[in-house]
Amino acid sequence: MQRRVLFFLSILFFTLSFVFSLVLIAQSKVEGGSEFVGSDACKDCHEAQYNKFIKSVHGKKAIPGSPINRDGCESCHGPGAQHVEKGGGRGVAIFVFDKRASSVARDSKCLDCHRDMRGVVNWDLSKHKSFLVTCDNCHSIHSPVPGKSYLKAQEPDLCFGCHRNIRAQFNKQSHHPIKEEFVGRQALKCSSCHNPMGTFDIKAMIKADSVNDLCFRCHAEKRGPYAFEHPPVPENCLYCHEVHGSNHSRLLTRKVPLICQSCHDAVGSSHPTRPYTNLHSFFGTATQNKNRFFGRSCLNCHGNIHGSSLSEFFVR
Ligand code: HEC
Ligand code: HEC
Ligand code: HEC
Ligand code: HEC
Ligand code: HEC
Ligand code: HEC
Ligand code: HEC
Ligand code: HEC
Ligand code: HEC
Ligand code: HEC
Repeated sequence: MQRRVLFFLSILFFTLSFVFSLVLIAQSKVEGGSEFVGSDACKDCHEAQYNKFIKSVHGKKAIPGSPINRDGCESCHGPGAQHVEKGGGRGVAIFVFDKRASSVARDSKCLDCHRDMRGVVNWDLSKHKSFLVTCDNCHSIHSPVPGKSYLKAQEPDLCFGCHRNIRAQFNKQSHHPIKEEFVGRQALKCSSCHNPMGTFDIKAMIKADSVNDLCFRCHAEKRGPYAFEHPPVPENCLYCHEVHGSNHSRLLTRKVPLICQSCHDAVGSSHPTRPYTNLHSFFGTATQNKNRFFGRSCLNCHGNIHGSSLSEFFVR
């Protein structure tokens, strides 16, 4: 008797698990009550999108894992059978990239494939994600500007659209050349220094482990090594420099001599650092040395301000 019950139960168990796995297989083909139909079905009604798609990176058969090798249009728009059956139309049974879908839902469509790709791996740490900026705020799949990366607009305009205060900084007299080409090289981009998709370093999403490492990528000569270091330099370039723009020459945070005086005062120095205030405050005759405080001021003598291997006072 007991054996028969056991036999019956095990038959029941196997039947149930068979039915269950069939349901699972069916579900993997279905999402939101619809099925995948393939890009050819979309072509008739959305020829413009289709023609661009097959010519773009996502439409390249040679790239394994590209949408064309997966579910085509439906890799991003989700299964479209119902949309097609109902003859298409706005808001009809298809995933769209606008306010109708949450930012997380939109991003996840792209992250399905891009989560582990170079450049995107730190998306979860990015300030953009935490402020609900989405992939499609910066990228347009169907109407990108010419060039790489499916960008909605060219840099820096893309970024200035939301970062107006940064635009103001770049309009200052001294600035990093993002608008102009300079001798023989291309203009910089915001993304020369930032990764808008996030970096391991949460602060300001810069493409290096520290501010100084970022600067050294392009200003390697400032790394030294110097026999005589000027302590603030290896610590942080931004003690003395603005990075986007400044109204003082050379991107300085303040003009000389004020910037020097913010750290050096007369006490303990062999020459006073406030020569304007006292006629007898500097070595030598007044006309010989005092006029060296005009123009480049302290820098007339302390010319190698980032460090020197010849002079502990950076005068050579
Ligand atoms: C029978 C014609 C037809 C077919 C086939 C069709 N669509 Fe559409 N679709 C339309 C029409 C009409 C609209 C509304 C007009 C518009 O926005 O262009 C639309 C709108 C859309 C929208 C925007 C929806 C919205 O609410 O803003 C998307 C996305 C879309 N279709 C994707 C697809 C995809 C993907 C396929 C293939 C799986 C497909 N369509 C197949 C006719 C069709
Ligand atoms: C089905 C997988 C898949 C989906 C979904 C997908 N991508 Fe891609 N994407 C790829 C592959 C594969 C490449 C090519 C990568 C390479 O060249 O190594 C690529 C390349 C790109 C590139 C670089 C293009 C270039 O010119 O080099 C951008 C930007 C991009 N995708 C953005 C997006 C965005 C935004 C979304 C969501 C709206 C998205 N992708 C959805 C697979 C996908
Ligand atoms: C704030 C704007 C912004 C957002 C948000 C954004 N991107 Fe980008 N993305 C860019 C820019 C700008 C580039 C071009 C970088 C360059 O030229 O070096 C780029 C490049 C890429 C590339 C090309 C690979 C690379 O490193 O150059 C891929 C892939 C990509 N983005 C995917 C995504 C995905 C997926 C999301 C959402 C999770 C996303 N992006 C969100 C601005 C953005
Ligand atoms: C890599 C992801 C991705 C793929 C693949 C993709 N789309 Fe889209 N689609 C988007 C995004 C993102 C938008 C929002 C507008 C934009 O970014 O250009 C969109 C918008 C649309 C719209 C609304 C109208 C418009 O142009 O803005 C239609 C229609 C559409 N897609 C149809 C298609 C069809 C048809 C295919 C296949 C040939 C396709 N999409 C493939 C991501 C994708
Ligand atoms: C759709 C609007 C939007 C676009 C486009 C955009 N950003 Fe942002 N960005 C934001 C928001 C919102 C924040 C978070 C709030 C803030 O710090 O202003 C942010 C934050 C940042 C931060 C970090 C600020 C911090 O304090 O850590 C950087 C760096 C940045 N964006 C760079 C860029 C770059 C580079 C581009 C162009 C490739 C760009 N952004 C395009 C909206 C945008
Ligand atoms: C030469 C490198 C460089 C370039 C080019 C650059 N940035 Fe920055 N940016 C930085 C550094 C470094 C910081 C961090 C400053 C700090 O730590 O105080 C920063 C900070 C920021 C911040 C956050 C702090 C703030 O002032 O709000 C935003 C937003 C930002 N940058 C946006 C942009 C945009 C937009 C562009 C292009 C128009 C751009 N950056 C170009 C290096 C750069
Ligand atoms: C991606 C390359 C790049 C990075 C990173 C970079 N710079 Fe520059 N920097 C340039 C270019 C290009 C110029 C203009 C041409 C020149 O003078 O060499 C410049 C010019 C300058 C100038 C002179 C500006 C003037 O008005 O003459 C200063 C100061 C400066 N950078 C400081 C920094 C600091 C500080 C950092 C780090 C926060 C930094 N740079 C990061 C490329 C870069
Ligand atoms: C103690 C203040 C101070 C610090 C810290 C500092 N700088 Fe400077 N920097 C200056 C001054 C002052 C000038 C102007 C020099 C001149 O006009 O002769 C200058 C000029 C520059 C210039 C343009 C002229 C040139 O010499 O190429 C660059 C580039 C530069 N600094 C990069 C850096 C980098 C990179 C760092 C960090 C490693 C840094 N600075 C740290 C004060 C400083
Ligand atoms: C952020 C603070 C800071 C700024 C700004 C700064 N310095 Fe310095 N400077 C220091 C420190 C700290 C030392 C090391 C002092 C010591 O060893 O007693 C130093 C050392 C020096 C020395 C060598 C003196 C010695 O005793 O070894 C000279 C010369 C000097 N600075 C000149 C300048 C000039 C000129 C400027 C303006 C362009 C300037 N500094 C801006 C912090 C600063
Ligand atoms: C006329 C040339 C000249 C000018 C201009 C000048 N210095 Fe000096 N400074 C020197 C010389 C030379 C030394 C080396 C010490 C000595 O010979 O007394 C020195 C030494 C220093 C020292 C180290 C002194 C100590 O003993 O700790 C500091 C700090 C300093 N200068 C800062 C400044 C600042 C800040 C300015 C601008 C306000 C400035 N200097 C302008 C020539 C000059």
